[in-house]
Amino acid sequence: MTTVGFIGSGMIGGTVARLSVAAGHQVVLSNSRGPETLNDLVEELGPLARAASSEEAAGAGDLVVVSVPLHACPHLPAGSLAGHTVLDTGNYYPQRDNQIPEIDSGKLTSSAWLQRQLPGAEVVKVFNNIYFKHLRSLARPAGAADRTYLPIPGDDTAAKSAVTEFLDSIGYGAVDAGPLAESWRQEPGSPVYGAPYGPFDNEAGTPASADVIRAALAAATR
Ligand SMILES: NC(=O)c1ccc[n+]([C@@H]2O[C@H](COP(=O)([O-])OP(=O)(O)OC[C@H]3O[C@@H](n4cnc5c(N)ncnc54)[C@H](OP(=O)(O)O)[C@@H]3O)[C@@H](O)[C@H]2O)c1
Repeated sequence: MTTVGFIGSGMIGGTVARLSVAAGHQVVLSNSRGPETLNDLVEELGPLARAASSEEAAGAGDLVVVSVPLHACPHLPAGSLAGHTVLDTGNYYPQRDNQIPEIDSGKLTSSAWLQRQLPGAEVVKVFNNIYFKHLRSLARPAGAADRTYLPIPGDDTAAKSAVTEFLDSIGYGAVDAGPLAESWRQEPGSPVYGAPYGPFDNEAGTPASADVIRAALAAATR
């Protein structure tokens, strides 16, 4: 069992929290409006869950899932995240997040942009390319023939190992997708973004093997 902190507990954060608790992990949830607004989710998740401030959630988790819109990232508690593995679920949508010149120019991937704001933390990009309802439906135990895989780019080998182990515990396999500089291969519009897991109107999703995910990453262009 590990403790997973959450900064952002909405569609994707809340789904990862549900899978974490189902796997026996403790979760510390946070959002922008304060812990008391998470009472319903904490009650649903039971004794392994509690709500806290974002600073506390960042400090409490061996792993910290950052699942907020990109425009909120400059307000993350960077000091509390230092020394932690950060699971970045984020996608850059300029119409929602405002223009970010370093990402627009192709100089930085959105995850490298986040990493730059979090000195001392190790960012691993994960969950960004799967619809939250598919993430909930496609979890399978280790060894299942129809296990689904998720790509995980990151710059730190130990952090990627920790994320791989965590994914395994909540029902997913991991495909090493190289360093954060390569994470454009799974950004919005890429072949691995959404499509391998099936259409949005089928909430059950389609299992995607490691080979399917590797082929989709390799097919990405920019
Ligand atoms: N939805 C999906 O299927 C999906 C799949 C993969 C990746 N993503 C990506 O994951 C990220 C989160 O998406 P989502 O769909 O989960 O969004 P969401 O449902 O709108 O949830 C966003 C969460 O972030 C919190 N938040 C916002 N600003 C914050 C701040 N400054 N400090 C702490 N918490 C803050 C919100 O809290 P309040 O509610 O209190 O404001 C909310 O809990 C986005 O980049 C999105 O593109 C989404």
